[in-house]
Amino acid sequence: MYKSVIIGVGGGRSHGHADAYQYVKRGRVVAVCDLLPGPMDEFGDKFDVSARYTDYREMFEKEKPELVQVSTPPNVRLEILEAAEAAGVPLAIVEKPLAIQGEDYVALRDFVARKPKIKVAINHQLQFHPRRQRLQKLVADGAIGDLRFVEASSGMNLAYQGTHSLQAIGAFNPANPTTVFGQVSGADGLQPNVKEHYAPDQSLAAVEYDNGVQATLRCGENAPRVPRGDAIYQHKRIAVYGMKGYAHWTMWGWETFINGVYESGEHEYPDEDVLGQAAMCEAMFDWLEDDSALHPLNLERALVDFNVILALYASSLNHEVVAIPYEPEADLVPKLRRALA
Ligand SMILES: NC(=O)c1ccc[n+]([C@@H]2O[C@H](COP(=O)([O-])OP(=O)(O)OC[C@H]3O[C@@H](n4cnc5c(N)ncnc54)[C@H](O)[C@@H]3O)[C@@H](O)[C@H]2O)c1
Repeated sequence: MYKSVIIGVGGGRSHGHADAYQYVKRGRVVAVCDLLPGPMDEFGDKFDVSARYTDYREMFEKEKPELVQVSTPPNVRLEILEAAEAAGVPLAIVEKPLAIQGEDYVALRDFVARKPKIKVAINHQLQFHPRRQRLQKLVADGAIGDLRFVEASSGMNLAYQGTHSLQAIGAFNPANPTTVFGQVSGADGLQPNVKEHYAPDQSLAAVEYDNGVQATLRCGENAPRVPRGDAIYQHKRIAVYGMKGYAHWTMWGWETFINGVYESGEHEYPDEDVLGQAAMCEAMFDWLEDDSALHPLNLERALVDFNVILALYASSLNHEVVAIPYEPEADLVPKLRRALA
């Protein structure tokens, strides 16, 4: 059995990480870490984890885990990866968003360039939801013909949910982005907040890919609503259009229209999510056992995706089409905050 540890267990998301272990065959949670002992004790009692730490370095030293799962705010990413690497931890799953703006993105890119031994994936676990897997395979097998257009959206802003929808575009269209043209508005989401998630309230990006596919990404108040989605976080979706039809996934249902035949159905997001999270962990263990079993959500790939968000910010600030790869200018978030105030 591989040993997993979770950092940042005072927040809601960490419960999703721990819940998934009822389905993870090759791993178990042996210890947790948080700066706040009270919430950590509640979590530890709920999931029956007795080893609890307020210092993750000490946890790495004593527990010698194979996998660390990082569920902190996004300003606590690189320091944990560096400490885990130094302690010889071989695997890390890091929650989205991997970064917020150019400076933290470049720091992570520099970390990857140093070719660290630790294998890192970003927690866009929707890639592994059973329904998403079926639809992704259908499209990859050519059921809707050559892809032409992808349209993805999320009810929350780019920092909270946008990277899930952006990753979904890559899941259905595994190609490299080449240009971004976009617009943003609304500064509420750019104000100081305890979760350290900063993004404009609404955004729209037109993205071109090197295989000729065009995509749009809409995140925030301007995104389309999903049937059965009550709360703001229940509106992630993606539709992909090809020469023979389309496939559409939402948090609560799906539909396909292929060669004139329409089919649809529903699913429960929480049920899909716990299985997706478990499969995400198993894919990490595959990667540990076999270097060639590259995890599809690896950090290097996620950095390519995140560059689209940085390019979108530059496009809206400077009113121009931005080529990818885009070398980010300094202080994108403060600049957006000023521009949108
Ligand atoms: N993948 C998903 O579907 C999904 C869903 C929800 C949230 N998330 C992401 O998960 C992350 C966590 O979200 P949340 O709402 O649980 O966050 P939160 O801010 O409520 O909780 C984060 C926890 O991390 C702890 N922490 C901060 N710095 C630490 C440190 N140096 N060492 C140890 N602990 C530390 C805090 O004390 C807190 O308990 C966010 O990045 C969020 O975007 C992902």
